[in-house]
Amino acid sequence: MVEIAECSWSSSVLCCIGSVTVLYYMLRWSWQCWHGFKVFVISEIWQTDLRTYGKWAVVTGATSGIGEAYAKELAKRGLDIVLISRSDDKLRHVAKEIESQYKRKTRVIQTDFTDGHPIYSAIVQQLEGLEIGILVNNVGMNYMGVLANFLDAPDTEQRITQVINCNILSITQMSRLILPGLVERGKGLIINISSEAASQPQPMLTVYSATKIFVTYFSRCLNAEYRSRGITIQCVAPFMVSTNMTHNLPVNPLIKSAASFARDALNTVGYTTFTSGCITHALQHIALCIFFPGWLRLSSFSVQRMAQFARSVEPQIKKRMAETNNKKD
Ligand SMILES: NC(=O)c1ccc[n+]([C@@H]2O[C@H](COP(=O)([O-])OP(=O)(O)OC[C@H]3O[C@@H](n4cnc5c(N)ncnc54)[C@H](OP(=O)(O)O)[C@@H]3O)[C@@H](O)[C@H]2O)c1
Repeated sequence: MVEIAECSWSSSVLCCIGSVTVLYYMLRWSWQCWHGFKVFVISEIWQTDLRTYGKWAVVTGATSGIGEAYAKELAKRGLDIVLISRSDDKLRHVAKEIESQYKRKTRVIQTDFTDGHPIYSAIVQQLEGLEIGILVNNVGMNYMGVLANFLDAPDTEQRITQVINCNILSITQMSRLILPGLVERGKGLIINISSEAASQPQPMLTVYSATKIFVTYFSRCLNAEYRSRGITIQCVAPFMVSTNMTHNLPVNPLIKSAASFARDALNTVGYTTFTSGCITHALQHIALCIFFPGWLRLSSFSVQRMAQFARSVEPQIKKRMAETNNKKD
């Protein structure tokens, strides 16, 4: 009799734990589905009016790829744009396109973010007097154009500093410059472009992946600090977008064009402060976390396979890089 009583007691406990676990996962998945629906479906219908943040938007790395697409989409939604990049010709070309297509004002600031601290005093002077409501910290560069080991970049010493200045220092310093104005007006938006490569440690993109997790943590912490003062800091972590950085890979259901990515990502403003930017990238993120988790990425097996893959695609990538450089010339 005692044994039967003990048995039914332990099975009730197990049953109870099982029910609580099932309920927990059902609630969690329901919440995630609702959140995804809100961020990627409802946001297509009702978008935040970005003009309420202020008159001007500042976009770094604004002359090609995701940055150019953000600049144009923001202009389309009624903001005047400050474009920041290295090349004066490209800056003037994009500014002209924005002015003629969207009838918005533009300003251009030519600078090289790899130069580090000295550039920011000149930037602040050129931004003086503008009512800036939005900052898009987009500029970023890869350590190498291909998957590679840490020591394989030519001129490693210089390259490390360049990538850190461009991917980390730019975001931190640009936020320092723009944030006081937003705080004073009690309203503003900063969008920081991180990467899917930051969602897990990514060997063979070591420096890039490490700089991008800085962007993610910086954004999330800053948002926690400043949201009560009316400022939103949104972190966007895209998967593959067809740009110069990805050797202009053909657009397909997995690889977005920069224009359609920027449109989708801007729709998510006001709905979430951390996003892959679009539904296909969000789904790829979930699939990758399940089928290629962190421990597998870090295994010697996986690193060797990635090295093999990198060797096999190197000739194609070099060809694409040459094509991109020819186009730039
Ligand atoms: N493409 C993707 O699949 C992907 C995925 C995840 C995250 N991201 C992130 O998205 C951001 C934009 O990437 P993208 O693919 O659009 O790159 P991209 O096509 O190479 O464009 C980079 C932009 O930044 C400017 N730029 C580059 N280096 C600069 C420097 N040192 N100083 C000033 N401006 C500089 C470039 O213009 P100039 O050459 O005229 O200076 C260009 O306008 C990056 O932060 C990247 O890490 C991209």
